[in-house]
Amino acid sequence: TTTKPWAGRFNAPTDAFVEAFTASVDFDRRLYRYDIQGSIAHATMLARQGILTQDECEAIVSGLETVRTRIDDGDFQWSIPLEDVHMNIESALTALIGEAGKKLHTGRSRNDQIATDVRLWLRDEIELIREGIERLQATLLELAEREAETLMPGFTHLQVAQPVTFGHHMMAWFEMLERDCERLADCRRRLNVMPLGAAALAGTTYPIDRQYTATLLGFERPAENSLDAVSDRDFALEFTADAAILMMHLSRFSEELILWSSAQFGFIELSDGFCTGSSIMPQKKNPDVPELVRGKSGRIFGHLMGLLTLMKGQPLAYNKDNQEDKEPLFDTVDNLKGSLKVYAEMMGEVTCNRARMRAAAAQGFSTATDLADYLVRKGIAFRDAHEIVGKAVALGLREGRDLAELTLDELRAFSTAIEADVFAILTLEGSVAARDHIGGTAPAQVRAAIARARHRRANR
Ligand code: ARG
Repeated sequence: TTTKPWAGRFNAPTDAFVEAFTASVDFDRRLYRYDIQGSIAHATMLARQGILTQDECEAIVSGLETVRTRIDDGDFQWSIPLEDVHMNIESALTALIGEAGKKLHTGRSRNDQIATDVRLWLRDEIELIREGIERLQATLLELAEREAETLMPGFTHLQVAQPVTFGHHMMAWFEMLERDCERLADCRRRLNVMPLGAAALAGTTYPIDRQYTATLLGFERPAENSLDAVSDRDFALEFTADAAILMMHLSRFSEELILWSSAQFGFIELSDGFCTGSSIMPQKKNPDVPELVRGKSGRIFGHLMGLLTLMKGQPLAYNKDNQEDKEPLFDTVDNLKGSLKVYAEMMGEVTCNRARMRAAAAQGFSTATDLADYLVRKGIAFRDAHEIVGKAVALGLREGRDLAELTLDELRAFSTAIEADVFAILTLEGSVAARDHIGGTAPAQVRAAIARARHRRANR
């Protein structure tokens, strides 16, 4: 059996099942690059403060680099008895360079070490996720531009409400993703504080220079309080909450894509590469990708709830419970990145059935509000106008005709304020073009929104 670095006060070996039960190396080895990065910075600081000699530091740094190369190359034996990524690396280092390796852990604990590793890792992952969001956003901008004039029904309660443009609809998704990106940037800013130096919980007796280590690792500053530094997982909760909101957005988006690509809607077609067939029904082309993304939102909401529950009963400072933060975080990051990647590619290949969308927009009396607004412009109070149009809609429903299909005389029976110019405002094009203000659905406004979004991105 491997001798454990902490075995001094023990008389009996760890129970074999407990050894496997408590080990985290199977998943936390994923952090090895960050663990080594943190150790190199720690050793460099120790040498600068005269706590290690320059020779010891050089041996440690080059030894850690060798270990990193071996892990990179798949030439490393991970050991369960050595529990976690930290002790696996430290023990490999000592095997490699001897005595100096045993000094690396001076003034440090695995408690501040793991808190540092996870922050370093998540900091990088947030950058990659933000790039993924931006790639999807770029695709949406192109799609919105291409379909800036494409008419479709806008819905409330999933009932036809007013005509909108497809470009405007795509820009709604763009805005949600913009907020997601900002939330993640904010999360990154708040997590960029260094736990190292907190040691186990109370700090350390060596004359360490935390500011220097923080600078080496690109942290904004050392954490203010050692107890908080080792026990705080707010950053993990915050990240998972941001991820849950982002997945909620993608899930809603998915729901629309699934509806729109059904035969009953027929608004869009997803390209074959993002759909699958049925093993029994030869005609089927199923929107599996959006369905799976919608489904994946569930596990990420679950991770948020899991992490909140993990933290809620913990007294200060570090508790082994915290080891349970890794797998949900890893799973959240992997599924988020995968969902963003597949979405950016899928949205780049969406085709619109403009005729179907236009026909659907013409149904359901979608320009009824335009008629009411027209009456208001002719001097009628909005409430009276609403009532007049409601009666015209009732006639249309009885007759199976749209408002634009009623004759002028039929319309004038409801209000003599209605004149021949009414038919221009009852068109779909007229309806969307009239909503011509910031945030409105008019094609000109959609193009302006796209231009502003591009400008914002260029200046980031
Ligand atoms: N595997 C542990 C974790 O994930 C590392 C820190 C362990 N510290 C300890 N004293 N057991 O949190």
